[in-house]
Amino acid sequence: EKAGYPHFMLKEIFDQPNSLRNGMRGRIYNRQDKPDSWQIKLGGLEKALEAPEREGKSAIDIMASARRLIICACGTSWHSGLIAKYVLENLAKIPVEVEYASEFRYRNPVIGKDDVIIAISQSGETADTLEAIKMAKKNNAITVGIVNVVGSSIARETDAGIYLHAGPEIGVASTKAFTGQVIALLMVALRLATERGVMSDEVLDSYCEALNALPDKLESWFKDLNDQIKVISKYFRLASNALFSGCGIHFPVALEGALKLKEISYIHAEGFPAAEIRHGALTLIRNFVPVVCIAMKSDPAYEQVKAQISEFRAKDAAVIVLTDQENNDFNGIASFVIRCPATKLELEPLIVAIPLQLLSYYIADERGCSIDQPRNLAKSVTVE
Ligand code: M6R
Repeated sequence: EKAGYPHFMLKEIFDQPNSLRNGMRGRIYNRQDKPDSWQIKLGGLEKALEAPEREGKSAIDIMASARRLIICACGTSWHSGLIAKYVLENLAKIPVEVEYASEFRYRNPVIGKDDVIIAISQSGETADTLEAIKMAKKNNAITVGIVNVVGSSIARETDAGIYLHAGPEIGVASTKAFTGQVIALLMVALRLATERGVMSDEVLDSYCEALNALPDKLESWFKDLNDQIKVISKYFRLASNALFSGCGIHFPVALEGALKLKEISYIHAEGFPAAEIRHGALTLIRNFVPVVCIAMKSDPAYEQVKAQISEFRAKDAAVIVLTDQENNDFNGIASFVIRCPATKLELEPLIVAIPLQLLSYYIADERGCSIDQPRNLAKSVTVE
């Protein structure tokens, strides 16, 4: 079942070009009236809802005119929710809040019938996320599930939803479900942007083309990337702390990189928005502490991030920079530069997350950790 890989996690990391293809299959297709143009349809969100007071509207209709969308999730799924906020606000211009399901359900949030609650969950069984949905329903909000496991509790409890089609994820550390969630939510954002009339056909085409090209790009990058990450991992296997930084859409990717490292390698790690490091964590930057910095040129704060990386270097940190393919700005400054294939800004997390998944995997392997079943953790947290 591991298809020759030593662990499910590694298999699932390498599955990603295919799991992303499966997530997009039948959802992004050429328009009949304009065969060179693209269209997105998300079956599970397009049909009329059962609730009679919704006048036969679909989840897409209701989301497109919602006062706000509230995303509830835990762990890695919460990180993909933060990316979704960025993308939904940027592309579809809908206000989004992202909540830890556990926090949301235990306070008294103001929820009304003009809100839509989106639950993101790989397993569809996370107890807090499920309870958040039940609470939202009691308050007459429409609920939408972004779920991997078909027929799971959250899939059944929500009014509408879409599946990731990422295939079974066995390793406790979420990898292909994370990228599956990001791509599903990107498609939701694009679909809502066209429904709301805030995106032209040409711009939609450019996003669909970038999405279609992504799996092949990942596939042709994997071999070199894998070799490079193995080398970096040997170097950092004895670290006891690590910091991850990223701005804008990459801040959640930094959080995800830190979570993976904690979860699999048992190395204490924290993720920060790049500028926030100055507000406290700078004290931790010193000799041999690995600092993983996402510094993509598309970042509006790129110049500031670049200056900050030089400052880390001056403090003797071991800096690993993730940046664009042709970028030589960090030669001689960073200990390692990981060059990522080019795509559109909103799709970059789908690329940048992968070296971070591999980094945690190979460091954990070097340290002899129990990769697919890290100590104390369960694949789905069904206890409250
Ligand atoms: O099944 P879910 O997506 O609801 O699970 C949520 C978290 O428990 C999960 O993402 C957890 O953080 C992962 N093990 C992280 O890799």
